Amino acid sequence: MPLPPPTQGIKYAGSKQRLLGPILDLVGRTGGQTVFDAFSGSTRVSQALARTGYRVVANDLSPCAKVLATCYLTAPHDPAHYRELIAHLNALPGEDGWFTAHYGGHANDGCAVQSDGLKRPFQRHNTRRLDAIRAEIDRLALPEAETSVLLTSLLLALDRVDNTLGHFAAYLRRWSARSYKEMRLEVPALFASRDDHEVWQCDALACAPRVSADVAYLDPPYGSNNDKMPPSRVRYAAYYHLWTTVCRNDRPALFGKARRRADSSDVLAASVFEAFRKDEAGRFVAVNALDDLLAKLTAPHVILSYSSGGRATAEALREVLHRHGRIAAVWQLPHRRHVMSQMRWTDAWVRDDEAPHTEYLFWLTR
Ligand SMILES: C[S@@+](CC[C@H](N)C(=O)[O-])C[C@H]1O[C@@H](n2cnc3c(N)ncnc32)[C@H](O)[C@@H]1O
Repeated sequence: MPLPPPTQGIKYAGSKQRLLGPILDLVGRTGGQTVFDAFSGSTRVSQALARTGYRVVANDLSPCAKVLATCYLTAPHDPAHYRELIAHLNALPGEDGWFTAHYGGHANDGCAVQSDGLKRPFQRHNTRRLDAIRAEIDRLALPEAETSVLLTSLLLALDRVDNTLGHFAAYLRRWSARSYKEMRLEVPALFASRDDHEVWQCDALACAPRVSADVAYLDPPYGSNNDKMPPSRVRYAAYYHLWTTVCRNDRPALFGKARRRADSSDVLAASVFEAFRKDEAGRFVAVNALDDLLAKLTAPHVILSYSSGGRATAEALREVLHRHGRIAAVWQLPHRRHVMSQMRWTDAWVRDDEAPHTEYLFWLTR
């Protein structure tokens, strides 16, 4: 399997950075040219596809995913132009502002818990720079693609100095070593590719019938569900609320210890793909949503990512896949280190190896 091309990204739960090789391998086998990345997230997969020569339609509900996709897939490629802009942003003196008031903390001899008893995701010297830079990006009022390049550069720089475990649902108690570093913006790793990519920001269920593509790559956020255990579920709007606010700069109402956006509460922001509950018939709501999505997609090939965590969900998923086509191949990467990844040219479900955190890719043809 050839090495995948380089990609860039923020820390993102469920990112498929490690699976780019097998994803590209499967997409290549379909013979398709246009790929719909319906849950594009960090855009690692979209970047790898675009760099390999495919036309990409990237979609995600998240505003930050849209910024990243607009940057990597549609920005005009003139690195010198961005270098000057980014040097200008890096030269701005820090200033106290909204981000510092809510997310900036004093170093306190290493303790990130502040006088109000709450932890912070960044040190003040970096949120002061964030305040100045974010305000200047709005003042520059550049076209969307260029603004997306600057915002991506800002997200990547903030991600390098954060005080988190990779999301903003909770912050670390002791300041991380990287949080002391001064945030520096750099030109994102832009690359020349075709100029006919598309970026969407909508519910995958709503846009599926309108996207014309040869292959749909589905990486929905159902994470590791388990029938018996409480769900250790990822809610993307809640996990990445601060990236949403950096992208929008809309100073939202906040709540809770992590100072989440009010509109990222589970009641307001839950995606049906993140639902853990079952319906009256005992079927997982998230699996029903996948069923709907497969019915709405027009692409003749579907590549589905699935990370195991509970047999009930896996069985239900298998049933759904069978309803919508033929499973041409299953690729599997067991979590256990000594076990090699393997491709099977059969739709037999590999039950014996079913262990938590096994990564699967299903190639469905119809
Ligand atoms: C597992 S992540 C995708 C990761 C991505 N493949 C990567 O490599 O970074 C799932 C994504 O689905 C998005 N999402 C959740 N519900 C959605 C929906 N109904 N429509 C579109 N995107 C949705 C989340 O914002 C999140 O970015």
